[in-house]
Amino acid sequence: MILVVGGTGRLGSHVTGGLLAHGHRVRVLARGRRPTRRVAAGAEAVQGSVTDPDLLERALAGVDVVVSAVTGFPFVDPAGVDFAGNQLLVRAAEGAGAEVVLVSVAGAAPDSAMGLFRAKFQAEQALLRSSVRGTVIRPEAFADLWIELLATTARRSHRPLVIGRGDTPVGWVAVRDVAALAVRLIDQPSLRGAAYTLSGPEQLSMTDLARHLMEARAWPGSPRHLPIAALHATALLPGRPGRQAQAALAMDGLPPVVDDTRTRIPDLPVTPVADLLHGNHVGTP
Ligand SMILES: NC(=O)c1ccc[n+]([C@@H]2O[C@H](COP(=O)([O-])OP(=O)(O)OC[C@H]3O[C@@H](n4cnc5c(N)ncnc54)[C@H](OP(=O)(O)O)[C@@H]3O)[C@@H](O)[C@H]2O)c1
Repeated sequence: MILVVGGTGRLGSHVTGGLLAHGHRVRVLARGRRPTRRVAAGAEAVQGSVTDPDLLERALAGVDVVVSAVTGFPFVDPAGVDFAGNQLLVRAAEGAGAEVVLVSVAGAAPDSAMGLFRAKFQAEQALLRSSVRGTVIRPEAFADLWIELLATTARRSHRPLVIGRGDTPVGWVAVRDVAALAVRLIDQPSLRGAAYTLSGPEQLSMTDLARHLMEARAWPGSPRHLPIAALHATALLPGRPGRQAQAALAMDGLPPVVDDTRTRIPDLPVTPVADLLHGNHVGTP
């Protein structure tokens, strides 16, 4: 039995679908906050929070491997879910004798400017220090999510809003490619017990991504930019707006990421950004 924590999310639902398609028994743990995000047919559902140790003990009964695709970002402080929740999950896995595949993030570091990246690093450390056999996936930013966000900000102006300078190259990776890696790690136990940094096939800045989106939609003109001064002011706000602005500022200064996965698992799918822009991504991994 595979437990997918956050199995109703953008990535988690792809992982759940892929695992079911490959014949695995799957249990999904999520709070069920959004009615549109349902647990895939064929998977068992456990409703509740990863921060509840009693629930985790029940959810882990009979589980061989846990895939953690959970995040609290940007709704709650990442320290609460991305670190503390994953730490509890690792402890529960230790008790149940299960392995953990932790979805972290490329660039996770103790001194990152982004709270989420610090929380992910702490979660990785908690896994490393435990007696659990751990595997870490560190994907770059999800292309699908950022295309969706840029399209949303374009609204009727048809000019996406780039927050921050938007000139740092990013290896945007398709969610389905990350899910394919997670499913492969479950299918092939010999690949587990290691860390995998996963990038997409192209290096594009946020501004480039916005331009590609405009070309794909035949929107004239150029993307808009949120003035840096406004971003710094927003970063001081409490809650979600502040966290998102801090993340945008930090993304401008992220160090380059080196993919070390595709040479080790050469037959993983590689989805070009253009396929996502033109809606050509179908199927489960
Ligand atoms: N988005 C990116 O660009 C990116 C890049 C690299 C890595 N990642 C990582 O990839 C993973 C998946 O990201 P995503 O974009 O697919 O996230 P997402 O769509 O926001 O999904 C998050 C999932 O976690 C669940 N969840 C949230 N808080 C929870 C809690 N306290 N207890 C239990 N479940 C909870 C959500 O369901 P409920 O709200 O119903 O509980 C949902 O199923 C995360 O670990 C994320 O940090 C993301």
